[in-house]
Amino acid sequence: MDAGWLSNSSAYYYGLDMTAIDFNPDVIEKAKETSKILSVNVKFQCADLFKFSCEPKDIVISVGVLHHTSDCLGGVRRCIELTRNGGVFIGLYHKYARKPFLDYFKTLKEENSDEDFLFKKYRELDGRHADETQAKSWFMDQVLHPYETQHTLEEIAGIFGSMVFPY
Ligand SMILES: C[S@@+](CC[C@H](N)C(=O)[O-])C[C@H]1O[C@@H](n2cnc3c(N)ncnc32)[C@H](O)[C@@H]1O
Repeated sequence: MDAGWLSNSSAYYYGLDMTAIDFNPDVIEKAKETSKILSVNVKFQCADLFKFSCEPKDIVISVGVLHHTSDCLGGVRRCIELTRNGGVFIGLYHKYARKPFLDYFKTLKEENSDEDFLFKKYRELDGRHADETQAKSWFMDQVLHPYETQHTLEEIAGIFGSMVFPY
């Protein structure tokens, strides 16, 4: 479960039977186009994680999603509930890793909030992208996203400790 590169790449590299959800229909369409290019058979569905239900899955993957929702920890619980035995692979913003980056851009924004200036500064830190559109997309997600929360391993481990699995 996870629309985007993870569902398509898991199906492509590991031959896994994947179901992928996202509540943005444009994202689903783009992911479907990619699955055709890769000739993989992923079941895509436009749905909100917090309302979605399905037969229990072996593993639920959610990377870069829940820290942008209004209830990140509820989202982690929801992912666990959708599995057979609590198998989840979840990527969240890490509080201590994220802080220096956010502090740096907060200072820059106070100095100059112009988007081109901030993008130039972002590019000094992230030289991975040959494609400018892709770099801009990462910049907007990492620097301009209107809402995010940050989390610790201790906090997330606590959720697993409080849940009972049918092993
Ligand atoms: C940063 S992207 C990561 C997508 C994917 N993990 C990938 O690697 O391509 C976050 C995605 O989460 C989706 N999203 C956010 N809240 C959601 C929700 N409650 N239910 C389903 N999708 C959601 C957004 O539409 C967006 O496409």
